[in-house]
Amino acid sequence: MLSTLSKKMLMCLTGLFLAFFLLIHFLGNLQLFLPQEQAHLQFNAYSHFLAGNILIKIISYVLYASIILHALDGLVITLKNRMSGAVYESDHRGRASKWYSRNMGILGTLILIFLVIHFQNFWYVYKFGAPPLDERGNKDLYMLVIAVFQQWWYVLIYV
Ligand code: HEM
Repeated sequence: MLSTLSKKMLMCLTGLFLAFFLLIHFLGNLQLFLPQEQAHLQFNAYSHFLAGNILIKIISYVLYASIILHALDGLVITLKNRMSGAVYESDHRGRASKWYSRNMGILGTLILIFLVIHFQNFWYVYKFGAPPLDERGNKDLYMLVIAVFQQWWYVLIYV
């Protein structure tokens, strides 16, 4: 079993990596705001480049492993804290700690639920489903994004 310190270290390293991924993901997604025709070409070219790159493939396995490890480790730490009553009895930080750092378990669970929906929307449909195809018969990720966000409830969830 990992010591409490190693568990927190794992949480910290996987969390940092996930935050770094999210920043890059956000910057990549900003291409969606280019004028429509350019966005269509550029976003698909970008996704084909990423899909064909071995280094990116390795990083994406590290990403999946980080999501799973971060969630499991967070669950173990939260349950252990609850069982020892530590959060309620020995957390005297009061207003010195922010509400979100005292409710990481709940916030993490919300993000996990979002990720299940998000993976189903894009990752699953693009890799294993029937995504839209462009005129050359290649998978069209841009049109998939457009199709998903034509449903208002997805816009609401993502916002
Ligand atoms: C409006 C916001 C977002 C848009 C338009 C968006 C778009 C996409 C798209 C199109 C993909 C599929 C890429 C592919 O399978 O090749 C993807 C994958 C992914 N997204 Fe997002 N995303 C958004 C927000 C988020 C957020 C907030 C998170 C994390 C909390 C996230 C995490 C991921 C992850 C982990 C993947 C899988 C990456 C991989 O397969 O390597 N995304 N996203």
